[in-house]
Amino acid sequence: MRLPESVNVLLLGSGGREHAFAWSIARSKRLARLFIAPGNAGTAACGTNVDINPNNFGSVKQFVLSNNINMVVVGPEEPLVKGIYDFFREDSQISNIPVIGPSARGARLEGSKEFAKDFMTRHGVPTAAYRSFTRKNIDEAYVFLETLKAPYVLKADGLAAGKGVLIVGSLDEAKKELGEMLGGRFGHAGDTVVIEEYLSGIECSVFVATDGKSFKVLPVAKDYKRIGEGDTGLNTGGMGAVSPVPFADGKFMDEVVSTIVKPTVDGLAKDGIEYKGFIFIGLMNVVGKPYVIEYNVRMGDPETEVVLPRIESDIIGLFEGMAFGRLDAYELAVSPLTATTVVCVSGGYPGEYVKGREISGLDKPSESIVFHAGTTAKGGKVLTAGGRVLAVTSLGGSIEEAVGKSFATIAGIEYEDKYFRTDIGKDLL
Ligand code: AMP
Ligand code: GLY
Repeated sequence: MRLPESVNVLLLGSGGREHAFAWSIARSKRLARLFIAPGNAGTAACGTNVDINPNNFGSVKQFVLSNNINMVVVGPEEPLVKGIYDFFREDSQISNIPVIGPSARGARLEGSKEFAKDFMTRHGVPTAAYRSFTRKNIDEAYVFLETLKAPYVLKADGLAAGKGVLIVGSLDEAKKELGEMLGGRFGHAGDTVVIEEYLSGIECSVFVATDGKSFKVLPVAKDYKRIGEGDTGLNTGGMGAVSPVPFADGKFMDEVVSTIVKPTVDGLAKDGIEYKGFIFIGLMNVVGKPYVIEYNVRMGDPETEVVLPRIESDIIGLFEGMAFGRLDAYELAVSPLTATTVVCVSGGYPGEYVKGREISGLDKPSESIVFHAGTTAKGGKVLTAGGRVLAVTSLGGSIEEAVGKSFATIAGIEYEDKYFRTDIGKDLL
């Protein structure tokens, strides 16, 4: 099986990651028509936005059937965790349409921290030591905490919009937080809590495309999670990213592939888990040795905005390899240039912020690719529509050169209360 030579694609999602996917898909020689559901003001320049909620599988199916869609690419985790892959496989009207993303069982690698940790243990993937607890054995959890050293890492088992991980400095605080988590602070996502050993090191994100048997390792990236300069203040969805990452050199990546990527993909096959999608492995480099912090079952945001611009080979060919088990025959070509992205947010984010501000300067010529994260088009204007508004990506011979281009582009774009970090990539120089 393969895709037709000319392909109609439906892409699900609406953030900067999806604009980067749309931009990359639109460059493919094999694209016929691209639809994005629901998309944003930026994706509208790469294809046609359609007003469909990606979690409404019935509407997605109707659209696929009535528009002769050949392939569905899933950006965010929620439809995957809710089983969109399986929904397609089990419906004879659409079971022949490939969905790029894992089955619901595979998506549990992100949907359940306990499942992910047990998977890693079962397949010998290096990760922090851990135990998981529910309200029933909370007393054992308190005893386990006493055996650990500060700081303490507590993780709500389920999806908690990126807020379910707490790192606390004292034992008393850890016990109090544990009580609140198991008491329902994160709703059912916190019914089970994973307590794990703290790992000290530098983080990076490794992206893997797999067909469930073979895999391709995509460019490695580092993201900047906190709102303030010097990576201080509250956690955000991501304020910027850089690819490649200087410390993730050939030797380190060989170790990542042999101790983490291969055992992970082999583990999926051994467990009989269908997985034709991306695996995003959050890693900690602990004095040269990689440990898995977390799996995500999708690409990262804003990492995708630096990973995809460095991929020079045809992305529809990559998807085809993933969907039909022929990824080993795909030749991945990666640009040697450095990509940086700087995220412009609405002032106040990640707390409260105002939406609907007019953005000007988007049409000025620049040396960057301006990916839209949270924007909407209204009456011929582009308005802010989220906390993260734009991800301004540039390529260059060095981090300084690339990030300098992003800052120059950002200087020409205006909206009220624009905020961005000026230190993206500085820690890597
Ligand atoms: P997660 O949602 O699992 O990625 O966790 C969010 C963040 O918490 C990670 O990006 C790390 O910065 C941090 N973190 C998670 N687990 C650990 C750990 N075991 N040791 C140190 N930091 C951690
Ligand atoms: N940048 C982190 C994430 O996408 O989860």
